[in-house]
Parts: sequence; C-alpha cells; structure tokens
Amino acid sequence: MEGTTGYTTAKITSQHGLIYDQLIRTIGEAKARHYYQANEDGLQLIDDIRKTNDIECDFSKQDAYVYGVTEEAKRDIYKEAEAYEKIGIRGGLTQEVELPFSVTAAIKIKDQAQFHPVKYLASMLRFLKEKNTPIYENTRAVDIEKGSRPRVITRDGHFVTSDHIVMATHFPFKDFDGLYFSRLHVERSYSIAARAEGALPDGMYVNVEEPKRSLRHFVNEYGEKLLLAGGEGHPSGQKENTDKCYEKLHDYAKEYFHGNEVTHRWSSQDLTTLDNIPYIGPITKNNPNIHVAAGFAKWGMTNGTIAAKVITDLIRGKASPYADLFSPSRNLSFQHVKSFTKENADTAKEYIKGRLDRRNRKPEDLAPGEGSVVRLKGKRAGAYKDEAGKISVVDTTCTHMGCELNWNNGERSWDCPCHGSRFTTGGEVIEGPATKPLKKLSD
Ligand code: FES
Repeated sequence: MEGTTGYTTAKITSQHGLIYDQLIRTIGEAKARHYYQANEDGLQLIDDIRKTNDIECDFSKQDAYVYGVTEEAKRDIYKEAEAYEKIGIRGGLTQEVELPFSVTAAIKIKDQAQFHPVKYLASMLRFLKEKNTPIYENTRAVDIEKGSRPRVITRDGHFVTSDHIVMATHFPFKDFDGLYFSRLHVERSYSIAARAEGALPDGMYVNVEEPKRSLRHFVNEYGEKLLLAGGEGHPSGQKENTDKCYEKLHDYAKEYFHGNEVTHRWSSQDLTTLDNIPYIGPITKNNPNIHVAAGFAKWGMTNGTIAAKVITDLIRGKASPYADLFSPSRNLSFQHVKSFTKENADTAKEYIKGRLDRRNRKPEDLAPGEGSVVRLKGKRAGAYKDEAGKISVVDTTCTHMGCELNWNNGERSWDCPCHGSRFTTGGEVIEGPATKPLKKLSD
C-alpha cells in the first residue's frame, strides 16, 4: 500500500486510453478481445470481493471516457470506435460529456468503476489476519535462490522457502536472464486532489492529446466532492524540477474547475511493456515456480487483480484462460524488437549523459531543503541540505546497473533514468529494481 497502489487515481477500467485499435494492429483482434475480457474480469472480481466481504471502499460505478479537442484526436477516436465494435466492447462514441470545455469527439465504456484502493486493501489485510496468514512488513527482499523449493533472501540475511514465489515488486528485482531491464519502460506521473468551486462531472476521463489529463472526482470523509487530476508524465529520473508538474496540474484545475485549493498531491511510477500487455506468469520458461506480475502501465487496478487470478490458477495447476496472453515468455513481433532496441538505446544515452555531467556546484552552496548534483573531489556526487542545514552526500551511481541518478525536487529523492530505481537523500532504496543502498560520501 506504500507503493504504487497507494498513489494512483484508482480507476477500475478496461479503457486504457486509445489502445484497442492499436492492439488489433499489433497482436490481432482475438488477443485484443481477450485483453479486454481479462480487464472486465478484473473489474468484476474487485466488485465480487468487496460485496462478498462487505468491504467499505467508496466503490462506485462510473462510465469511462476518452476525449479529444483536436481534429486529429477525433480521427483517432473514430478509429477506436471501430475497434470497439469489432471486439464487442460495451460502449462507443458519445456526445454526452460533462466537461466544462468543448470536445471534438469522445468514446466511452459503460459501467466501469472507481474506489479507494487503500480502504479496499486494508480490509483484505484484516481478512488475512483473521486467517492467521503471516505478513512481514518492512522486510526488504534482496535476492531469490532458484530451485525446486526457491528461497527469498531478505536484506538482514533471513530467508523464506516456498514451492512458489511471486515477485510482485513493481519492477522485478531479480531478472533470471529474462532481460526485464530492457523490456520495461518506466514513466513517472503526478496527481493532485483539489477543492473545486466549479461543478465536477460524473465519470472518469482521460484525453488523447499531450499534455495528458486524467480526471475523476471522489468524496472525502466529510462528504465533500473533490477533483482528482493527473498527468504530466515523463520518463522516470529525467526531470529535475518536478514541482513544476504539480503546478501545471494546479493551473489546469483552477482554469477549468475553480480548483483553487490543493488538498493532496502525489506521484507514481508506471511500467509499460513492449507490446502494452503486462508480463504475468513464470519469470522465464526455465523457472516455472518463480512468477512475476509487472508492466500494468497506468492500469494496475484491473490488470493487478487479474494477475493475482492468473498466477493463483497457475500455482494450483489449473488452466488459466489468460496465461498465454500475459505469458512473459510470449513471442514479440519485429515491431516490438524495434522498440526493444530503442529502449536499450535510450538507456545507453542516459548512462553516457550522466557520466558527462560536469556540473560544478559544491554541497555547501545548497540552500536548506535543496538537493543537487555536485562535484566532490573532482567526482560527480549527490548532495542534499536539510532544513536544519545538515548535508548528506551520496555516490550517484545507481546500484542496479550503474546509471547516474538525477535529483527529483518534488519528491526529494535520487531517481534513476534507466529503470526507475529511487533512493532517499541518505541513499536508502525507496523503489527497485535496485536492492542495495547508495554509497554514502558523508553523513
Ligand atoms: Fe537500473 Fe538504475 S535502475 S541502472
């Protein structure tokens, strides 16, 4: 709950932007339909679980919309409408959009949902505790030993042995030659909650054009209806002034919804696969008892839920209708291999760019609350001065595969542009795939 699930817009939907026309062209109509059905099953499963277990999680049925404001977006939305018809998606083009600006076209899927994911998971935790299922918090896994009874090794040297292991760690921290580091793209994006004086629409919205805007409302514990707006995505670790991303979202909320007061803000990281279908199942063909669930893009509520179902079926030896679709060992087409090459090229570019960074600031130049790449004894380092004036300096070489980290001022963290690892100002791992802390150059 501390990770991506707690920092989401929590849309439970099979509408993942304009994806189905593209999926028909890349993986074919049958698989595109299968992907839609898998996500509808995920939605249904969440609804069933919360009803059966009486979970109060602010679940409400909402229609999901993709809209555009340009003629080009209109053409794309019309193509997507044809894909909806081919696949049999419950929805299509619509004129009825409750937004405070005009749109050139919009397409909807009916009866999707939104909820409060932390309330949902907190209830599940209570349920697991009642069943005496052990849960270990603050226990970082740093390695996995494969075998007929694989073992997870923790940072403190303890281990857990099991028939099967599920690595649901966002980015898999152990690769087993699956080359995940070169077939997952990492993006960071931002969200705000704002008190709005303007009317807030029902429904969940995302636009076609850049900059991306994701909208929905939610009702807080005092019964107030608030706006939730997301967007400003960028490749992870490649933007230093991330405060600006929040400012732009706030400007948008003010302009269209009179959303003057921001009550909360957060950011999250999303992983996208080469063909936009998540990797769910055995991490490689040779390791059938070590499973992975990764690459949900921004659609982890439905994809994450169906991942749990697929992996449970596999572990129980039951046939899963979706195992082949999501298999991490599936064949990727020429188009995807091209993308694979580009991802590698981008990573190499970031690797070299970091090494050529000749910035000359010194740690003592920093203002309180400021972090920056600095030079220390002629070498690149990362320094942060806290509000009390205490300076922490770390080696900015990522402990995963050696890329150079960049400062993220919105979150006050050191972020990796290659595969998205993140570290605190003192060098501790916030988010993998890195498992080891950064080298401290001062306390
Ligand atoms: Fe892979 Fe940093 S996360 S090099």
